[in-house]
Amino acid sequence: GLPERVTIWEVGARDGLQNESTVVPVDVKLEFLSRLADAGLGVLEATSFVHPKWVPQLADAEELLAGLTKVDGVSYPVLVPNERGLDRALAAGVRHIAIFGSATETFAKRNLNRTLDEQFAMFEPVVTRARAEGLDVRAYVSMCFGDPWEGPVAADQVAAVGKRLVDMGSSQLSLGDTIGVATPGQVESVIAATAAAGVPVDDIAVHFHDTYGQALSNTLAALRLGVTTVDSSAGGLGGCPYAESATGNLATEDLVWMLDGLGVRTGVDLDRLADTSAWMAERLGRPAPSRVVRALRG
Ligand code: HMG
Ligand code: MG
Repeated sequence: GLPERVTIWEVGARDGLQNESTVVPVDVKLEFLSRLADAGLGVLEATSFVHPKWVPQLADAEELLAGLTKVDGVSYPVLVPNERGLDRALAAGVRHIAIFGSATETFAKRNLNRTLDEQFAMFEPVVTRARAEGLDVRAYVSMCFGDPWEGPVAADQVAAVGKRLVDMGSSQLSLGDTIGVATPGQVESVIAATAAAGVPVDDIAVHFHDTYGQALSNTLAALRLGVTTVDSSAGGLGGCPYAESATGNLATEDLVWMLDGLGVRTGVDLDRLADTSAWMAERLGRPAPSRVVRALRG
């Protein structure tokens, strides 16, 4: 069966923009977030408190949060890799953070400048302090289905990394197909292995990139296993600067089109959302990758 309702975790302002080489002005980012909230999205990943040299596009995190008018009932999580990032996030009044680990050695090095093992030592004090401050914590795992340098990734490896991040005190685990190579059978194996390691399916979210056009099929496979939180990016923007061949995320419009058709509630107004992505595409100077945005807005 399928869930009655799905929570969409909108990553457009973070994952969507982090790879854009031209810096998007902060007032455009703020209008983007405000339009996304108006379209009915309840979780808006807003930015990252990472090293500004590593992700120059998000170097304006403080300015963005200072200018943000939070809408009642909307959560604005941010990415935090380490204690320095947590200090910055707390000073900015953040209440919801996401740490982001890697399932592979190579990507831990490239994305975090840490070994696979060292990443846990970096995250542990972040989660402990964040929980003590009453913050909600999500944990991402990247490269859950394949890694551009290491090739296929074992499901048990993903489950072991995910379980460790959950045991630290994260309340949700987002399984990331960073480079978009997964197919539905693999999604089933990785979710089954993660559940078998002791992470309840209720606490698992999925994060697909659409590089090989598999993101919607993979999402449906996850929903059939009981997953109810799905990450996506308005217009299909996105990609990771530290992952070769990572293209756009699953587009939120494509996701909403499928869920509307299936009668699964999301609370999102597709028309307003497509307008927002068309507006953002104009700001970025190229059409939105989303098939649904193109079909609806030409
Ligand atoms: P590092 O160079 O090892 O940092 O980077 P360090 O701990 O050695 O510190 C070096 C200097 O940086 C120090 O300053 C720190 O204070 C400063 P100094 O004492 O030399 O003057 N520093 C910071 N400054 C500001 N904010 C901070 C911060 N941390 C240290 N937070 C680090 C390690 C983790 C910081 C770096 O590797 C980094 O920023 N990485 C982030 C990369 C990133 O954002 N990638 C994209 C997000 S992940 C993703 O997209 C995947 C996902 O979507 C899921 C999926 O698709 O799979 C989530
Ligand atoms: Mg991503």
